[in-house]
Amino acid sequence: MLEFLNISYGYNNRKILNNFSMKLQAGEVVSLLGPSGCGKTTLLKLASGIEKVQQGEIKLDNQIVSSNNIHLSPDKRGVGYVFQDCALFPHLSILENIFFGMNKSEVKLQTQKIKKLMDEVNLSNFSNKYPHELSGGQQQQVALIRAMASEPRIILLDEPYSNLDSRLKEKIRDQMLHLLREYNISALLVTHDPEEAMFMSDKIGVLNNGFIEQFGSPIDLYLRPKSAFIAEFFGEINIFDGIVEEGFVNTVLGTFSCSKKFNKNKVKIVIRNEAIKLYSDKKKFLKNTNKNKYIISPYIGHVMEARLLAGSTLVHLSLKVNNSDFHIHARIPGLNFFNVNEKVTVCSDPSQIFIFKQ
Ligand SMILES: Nc1ncnc2c1ncn2[C@@H]1O[C@H](COP(=O)(O)OP(=O)(O)OP(=O)(O)O)[C@@H](O)[C@H]1O
Ligand SMILES: [Mg+2]
Repeated sequence: MLEFLNISYGYNNRKILNNFSMKLQAGEVVSLLGPSGCGKTTLLKLASGIEKVQQGEIKLDNQIVSSNNIHLSPDKRGVGYVFQDCALFPHLSILENIFFGMNKSEVKLQTQKIKKLMDEVNLSNFSNKYPHELSGGQQQQVALIRAMASEPRIILLDEPYSNLDSRLKEKIRDQMLHLLREYNISALLVTHDPEEAMFMSDKIGVLNNGFIEQFGSPIDLYLRPKSAFIAEFFGEINIFDGIVEEGFVNTVLGTFSCSKKFNKNKVKIVIRNEAIKLYSDKKKFLKNTNKNKYIISPYIGHVMEARLLAGSTLVHLSLKVNNSDFHIHARIPGLNFFNVNEKVTVCSDPSQIFIFKQ
């Protein structure tokens, strides 16, 4: 459907994209995640034809639309674009914005569909209003409908929810996903919010240093991250340095097994906050729990602080080892009561621990 092949791109001799390749299949929603300034918007501009490629190729439905010597203009690509800053024309009404650039027969053809779409997102009464009379969220919905109006092959969405509060964001991205599915439109969504990417996408690509560091399903990236950078992108982590001896590495949270091919190597041990379990009563824990499932820290944790964060509790712990003091974060599901200075047994779930060669 949409394919980037070995794209390299820079501004004023500063390289931003370096041999970037990625493929999006028909009907898929794919998210592109990456830190600010890594080149996400640049990729969308290249796919839409707003910018010309410097090296590499872009294909739409197996047809080359961008290369060194081919450049199909944006209006001939059948690509819808929802810009990072929304960008409705302020002097045009909502309907005029949506139909902008269409001829009379196209408007006639699309009117019923647009009416239905406006209805679905409760905007029917806003057709003749102007953008400044709509909230930020409503303007985002109009921008999406505008992008869908011309029946694009694919929609490019550049952080479409970044200006919205978190509740509204959840509602609107849910509506967007249903609209994309209902009309079977493929989408490439740019975001730096991993939860948003996981919510919306069939596949996720994480962009780092100009190329895709990992591409796969949300579950793949969460459960099988290829680097500490990827693991950290999908949630808060605790990270330790260690050296592998005979297939094991020691940390303050216990001894973890890892591949023998890492023997004598320096490694980074990444432990997700939610991999850590805490127990106030060690005896009870040892009696009731399958000890083999968890790695138990040889050190006692002291609770420094515990904060309820909506669906989970974030506990700050201190583990004293000789003269050093290790600060660990644990995220425990639900409401939990831990007192400051309480002593706890600290365990980790090995399935949420990742070890990377340094
Ligand atoms: N027209 C331009 N001229 C020069 N440099 C540019 C131009 N557009 C973007 N850049 C630079 O290229 C880099 C990538 O920009 P881009 O807008 O693609 O990043 P992004 O990943 O979308 O970031 P954000 O998440 O902040 O939107 C940035 O360092 C930016 O400063
Ligand atoms: Mg951007």
